[in-house]
Amino acid sequence: MSKQIVVSGIRSTGYLHLGNYFGAMRNYVKMQDDYNCFFFVADYHSLTTHPDPKDLKANVFRVVAENIAGGLDPEKVALYAQSDIPEIPELYLLLNMLAYKGELEKVPTFKDKVRLNPDNVNAGLLTYPVLMTADILIHKALLVPVGKDQEQHVEMARNFAQRFNHRYGELFPEPHPFNFGDNLIKVPSLDGNGKMSKSENLNATIFLSDDDDTIRKKIMKAKTDSGPTEANSEMPEYIQNVFLLLKLVSSTETVAAFTDAYNGCTIRYGDMKKQLAEDMIRFIAPIREKALGLQQDEAAIRKILKEGAEKARESASRTISEARKAIGINYY
Ligand code: TRP
Repeated sequence: MSKQIVVSGIRSTGYLHLGNYFGAMRNYVKMQDDYNCFFFVADYHSLTTHPDPKDLKANVFRVVAENIAGGLDPEKVALYAQSDIPEIPELYLLLNMLAYKGELEKVPTFKDKVRLNPDNVNAGLLTYPVLMTADILIHKALLVPVGKDQEQHVEMARNFAQRFNHRYGELFPEPHPFNFGDNLIKVPSLDGNGKMSKSENLNATIFLSDDDDTIRKKIMKAKTDSGPTEANSEMPEYIQNVFLLLKLVSSTETVAAFTDAYNGCTIRYGDMKKQLAEDMIRFIAPIREKALGLQQDEAAIRKILKEGAEKARESASRTISEARKAIGINYY
């Protein structure tokens, strides 16, 4: 049986952090053997916020390097830049004729962006879900691994696929969000508030590019207290968070030792954080060094992107000719 088709876009803004790693990247890596994966850097999407032209290339190359350092294998997946696939904007244009202003204006992510940036409500922002639909349908994907915040966009892609099929005949399979279930790990922030994020407290978020000292400093500042006074007492959430991080990067023996110390009221959070920092460094440093090395080898990244685009265009060109034909653009 042929493998199911998977598509996902990776944002090209901001640096990858531990939450991205355990939330998304690690799951991409797990999928690459069992599915036919198309993963791309969503550079067109990033233009909605008008990034400085001189930053664009470095952003895209960095994201590619970080994803490969995190375990994505460009031999196994098609890893490409969205802007290298001209069939995507072509399908986007065709799909825009089936997308209605009213429904696009109702999308919660659009409304959020209007609220946050009332001076930049451009048409690209409004049609963001249509471009995302084109990204997915161009490969006739069935599965779209995304976080909760993107599930509604995948639902819209499903609607647009149905609408196209209904009007022009069956062409697109209906895509569904791929939920990692138990594998979807929330990585808590170091300040005890919510999860790690690139937009909130930067000192409470560990980035894959952080150097050893920065990691140490951030972890030593994690919120703790003077420790429990009663045996086996319940853990406050911020302490649970430190344990959660320990479970991600430390050995089971280490976790067990500190859990026992907590339950027996002998825990010293300073020691626990020191241990967490060293284990975190052992985990992050190789990824960081590999990403840095790759970023310095522009030729290597260029080659990866070129080969990725070739693979992606093979499937994209097939789909776009079918879509044109279905619509009646079939003149010669
Ligand atoms: N919008 C997604 C995000 O912000 C990125 C993205 C763009 C995407 N196109 C996609 C994800 C297609 C899945 C499929 O994270």
